Amino acid sequence: VYHTPELTPADKAPDCAIAVDVLRATSTMATVLAAGGEAIQVFSDLEKLMHVSESWLPEKRLRAGERGGGKVPGFELGNSPLDCTPELVQGRRLFISTTNGTRALQRIQDAATVITAAFINRAAVVRYLIEKQPETVWIVGSGWEGSFSLEDTACAGAIAQHVVQETNLPLEELAGNDEVISAIALYSQWQDNLLGLFHACSHGQRLLRLDCHEDLKYCSQTDILDVLPMQREPGVLKS
Ligand code: MLT
Repeated sequence: VYHTPELTPADKAPDCAIAVDVLRATSTMATVLAAGGEAIQVFSDLEKLMHVSESWLPEKRLRAGERGGGKVPGFELGNSPLDCTPELVQGRRLFISTTNGTRALQRIQDAATVITAAFINRAAVVRYLIEKQPETVWIVGSGWEGSFSLEDTACAGAIAQHVVQETNLPLEELAGNDEVISAIALYSQWQDNLLGLFHACSHGQRLLRLDCHEDLKYCSQTDILDVLPMQREPGVLKS
């Protein structure tokens, strides 16, 4: 478990890397693909996003831009998963740039397999890990501009705890891995009150100030979408 993209090693890549940005980028991505979106293409740079998406027919694309939690002017969408209804996203590609989530994805894009996780698609991620058994797995929290994120770490713990439980992995196997042990402990403390965790964490507070209470509620649900966003070409995710 790495708490921010900045803390991931730059000189090697794992068999499987999992980007986590529960509030809200990876929750939005799972929602878009579950609702029939064609793909998600991620950008750290807004201008590049505009340039690349320009060659797509307007009815085949959606542009989502978020900075500081708010929608970027001129974009159709910000980063609210609740805006991503099947009526809107069906058959369209989401071109998206967010403050932290898309940066995390770009940092890990050289891993053999790249997937995204949030609480809403946690079970699909756990099932993938158990079925494929990749030897090295990184779970990378997006954080906020380089700092620790409570909600992403708890989600990493939710994934790790279920893999441990479902594979009957002896807990001693985790000895020495301080990040995973602390992520599991954090999840264990909050698992019955994820909305409470979102209200307590700094990015949850930021989103509440922006009137995003319904987003927090939606993102605090566990295992509601059976979808596994996976990178199919650099920067492009499909289910
Ligand atoms: C991000 O990528 O920084 C977040 O998803 C921000 C947000 O909640 O929109």
